[in-house]
Amino acid sequence: MESTNPLRSATIRDRFVADHRRIDALLERLIDAFGANDSEEIGRLWSQLEPGLLGHLEAEEKHMLPAFANVAPEESADLAREHEHFRLRLSELGAALDLHLVRLDTARAFADELRDHARKEDGLLYRWADTHLDPGGVPLAPSHG
Ligand SMILES: [Fe+2]
Ligand SMILES: [Fe+2]
Repeated sequence: MESTNPLRSATIRDRFVADHRRIDALLERLIDAFGANDSEEIGRLWSQLEPGLLGHLEAEEKHMLPAFANVAPEESADLAREHEHFRLRLSELGAALDLHLVRLDTARAFADELRDHARKEDGLLYRWADTHLDPGGVPLAPSHG
C-alpha cells in the first residue's frame, strides 16, 4: 500500500489549490489581527504564514517549474518572477510588522496579488502538472496551520 495519508493520494492540483486557500485564509486573519492591533495573534499567524508561503513557492520552483519551463518557458518565467516579487513583499511585510508599521492597504494589495497568481497557476500550471507529472514527485510540506 502506498500511503494512508489522504493528502498523498490527492492530485497535485487539489493539494496546491488547498494550500493557496490555507495561505489566503492566514493572510486574511492576519489583516484582521492588524486591524484589531492584536499583537499576540499577529505573531502566531505570521509564524504560520511566512514558512507556509515560502515552502509553497519553493515546492513549485523545485518540482514543477523546471519541467513546465520546457513546454511553456515564458509562462514559467512569469510565475518565477512573481515568486520573487512575493518574497520581497513578504520580507517587507515582516519588517513592517516588527516596527509596527503595517499598512492595511499594502497587506490587502499583497493578498490580491497572491490571489491573481493562484488563479493563474490553477488554470495554467496545476492542470498541466496533473497530466504530466508524477504526483509523488511533487511534495508539498503538510499544513501545520
Ligand atoms: Fe506560485
Ligand atoms: Fe501556488
